[in-house]
Amino acid sequence: MAIANKIAGYISRSSWIRKMFEEGERLRQEFGAENVYDFTLGNPDVEPPKEFHKALQQLAKKPLPGMHRYMNNAGYSETRTAIARKLAEDSGLQVTAEHLIMTCGAGGGLNVVLKTILNPGEEVIILAPYFVEYKFYIDNHGGVPVEAWTNRETFRLDLDAIAAAITNKTRAIIINSPNNPTGVIYNEEELSGLGELVKRAQIRTGHQVYVISDEPYSRVAYDGIKVPSIFKLIESSVVVTSHSKDLALPGERIGYLAVNPQMPTALQFIEGAVFCNRTLGFVNAPALMQRLVAGLQDVFVDISDYQSKRDLFLENLNRLGFSMVKPDGAFYLFPKSPIADDVEFVKLAQKHHILLVPGSGFGAPGYFRIAYCVNRKMIERSIPAWEQLAVEVGLRK
Ligand SMILES: Cc1ncc(COP(=O)(O)O)c(C=O)c1O
Repeated sequence: MAIANKIAGYISRSSWIRKMFEEGERLRQEFGAENVYDFTLGNPDVEPPKEFHKALQQLAKKPLPGMHRYMNNAGYSETRTAIARKLAEDSGLQVTAEHLIMTCGAGGGLNVVLKTILNPGEEVIILAPYFVEYKFYIDNHGGVPVEAWTNRETFRLDLDAIAAAITNKTRAIIINSPNNPTGVIYNEEELSGLGELVKRAQIRTGHQVYVISDEPYSRVAYDGIKVPSIFKLIESSVVVTSHSKDLALPGERIGYLAVNPQMPTALQFIEGAVFCNRTLGFVNAPALMQRLVAGLQDVFVDISDYQSKRDLFLENLNRLGFSMVKPDGAFYLFPKSPIADDVEFVKLAQKHHILLVPGSGFGAPGYFRIAYCVNRKMIERSIPAWEQLAVEVGLRK
């Protein structure tokens, strides 16, 4: 075997993803891209805000001396100061530049955090349905993922299920709000409850247990809902986020991680994270992007556009008999599969040229995910196909 057995195993177990992708490509070639309704990817279809392009042009016109050189592995202090100001405003706490480091997106940031805190064999609790990469990220750093379910009807935090999953080896709990794939935003009460639970776990295990709050969708929230600041509610917390979604820059790999300034070991944590950012080979987050996002902390893409696509989809799918939680944020719907086997359902949908991801891909068989960060016209064009699909699975006559 030319590659590690473990990696070969991961690839073969996820081969259905590749098959789905290939089938989508085949459908596009045979029927034309406009007749295939692809809701598989969380890749924003919108362009970054005009302020981003303006700042980019200005920097290109007037390059700063040394702007492409290596830097402090934590990132430019001007960028970290701008972000710290925002975090301080949201949390009411004294967050400063020394409490955060710039990372290669949230994905890079999560790897840095896990590398920084995990001893071999320590456990990280993930909450189903979950972003599938968590399992691989945890494994990257010798950790063991432990699954606990959120409430199966509402997808809200199930504190009893989390408590039952905590052992002496628990090192961290990853939460993601607004959630991919459910769109749920955890409220202050749930998060305070989690904070209490973590405090008790720390006393019981005698070591620090972290809540890692993965928040790349924190500014993609609808109906005026504000995503609570985790720092205010959970002392042992680390925020990991990016500008992949709020500024529509996923290809630019720019994000940050921040530690709760109330944590007595906050600066030791950051020292570890800076070391890991370097030795994981990220070295530092992209220099040009750091310069640009420093001035864009109050700017984001048009959220109302996503909200109206959510409403369009919800209205039509509810009318057709599909059942799902109304998402408060992010840009996904996670309906129940009308037939028991979600992979079978996704295959049936393909027959109608609708491309979806089965819930099994999120540790949640029996559901499917729709990503609606797509062109509105594609959603509109897909409605007759959804109608036929609803008839085929017996939701309507
Ligand atoms: C829940 C969640 N976490 C992390 C990421 C990674 O985001 P980034 O592009 O910032 O690495 C994604 C991307 O889709 C996501 O959905």
